[in-house]
Amino acid sequence: MTRAASKSVLVTGASSGIGRATALRLAAEGMQVFAACRKASDGEALASEAKPGTLTPVLMDVTSADSIAACRERIAAAADGGLDGLVNNAGVGTSGPMEALPLDTVRAAFEVNLFGQLAVIQAFLPLLHPRRGRIVNLGSVGARITIPFGGVLCGSKAAFESFSDALRLELHPLGLHVSIIRPGSIHTPAVAKTLGGVDEAIAGWPEAARTRYGAMFRSFTARAVAREEAGSPPEVVAEAILHALTAATPRTRYAVGKDARALSLLPRLLPDGLLDRIRLKMLGLPTAFGPAARSGEEETAASGGAAMGR
Ligand SMILES: NC(=O)c1ccc[n+]([C@@H]2O[C@H](COP(=O)([O-])OP(=O)(O)OC[C@H]3O[C@@H](n4cnc5c(N)ncnc54)[C@H](OP(=O)(O)O)[C@@H]3O)[C@@H](O)[C@H]2O)c1
Repeated sequence: MTRAASKSVLVTGASSGIGRATALRLAAEGMQVFAACRKASDGEALASEAKPGTLTPVLMDVTSADSIAACRERIAAAADGGLDGLVNNAGVGTSGPMEALPLDTVRAAFEVNLFGQLAVIQAFLPLLHPRRGRIVNLGSVGARITIPFGGVLCGSKAAFESFSDALRLELHPLGLHVSIIRPGSIHTPAVAKTLGGVDEAIAGWPEAARTRYGAMFRSFTARAVAREEAGSPPEVVAEAILHALTAATPRTRYAVGKDARALSLLPRLLPDGLLDRIRLKMLGLPTAFGPAARSGEEETAASGGAAMGR
């Protein structure tokens, strides 16, 4: 392990969940932690929980170039021009059927989960290079195993993992490590943000989509919420991030939390057909081919065919 104390690390999305647990864990280790939040009040609340002088709240919205630049200026001045670690944790979840999700919603999720991450990496690499700092990126098991109604989240994480792989290879000759953290089910406030408000979400879809996917989406959401609520605490992810930042030989990938290893492994072992049935069954969706189309047609007929008028 390299010495944790005296290292300076920036953690994005530190207001809640994994980012919050990570910022506090790294501060407890004696690191100089810059905890990036979008709201000043969140940063102040976090700082009040850490050992005095170890955690500095900073403001950053990863979708705003100005906000990223202002944050970099602040950290460059405070951290003596260099950073030993960057934890790209900020992220949003979005769920819904690919057929009905508004493209603006999809773009907004990719703006945070993919483009925002790269913008932060590009902005802070000049501070990481002089110290051969480490980058730790929050991926997801969803990057490995896509679930129905999770296409946007899983797709953005798969793309981010691919960016991370390219970055790792490019930075390897320059002496900088890049690790990907792949959490499984972790119980954080993200569950309510991503999977809460089912009725409102369905109400926002075109009528035909409500008929086709409404019942399946409700079933999916109930199962997904139960899985996440029974998930591991965010502190287990914070431990993996600490390892990635301090181990003499950090791993390229860390599967952490409930189901993470199994879900990462299954797609490598099982054929698509079997894996599809397992995923559908796990999320309470029909495993047979077509039954939801028949029930959709019945509902459409019962509502006088209005559902087809999308
Ligand atoms: N929980 C899980 O089971 C799980 C599984 C796999 C991967 N992950 C990944 O782990 C990371 C943390 O997730 P979590 O469960 O801890 O979620 P969370 O509790 O919802 O925290 C997400 C953090 O990201 C911040 N954020 C959102 N949009 C942002 C933006 N535009 N700019 C800057 N910060 C922004 C949030 O800030 P605000 O409070 O201001 O919104 C919050 O601090 C995410 O990348 C997530 O995809 C989580």
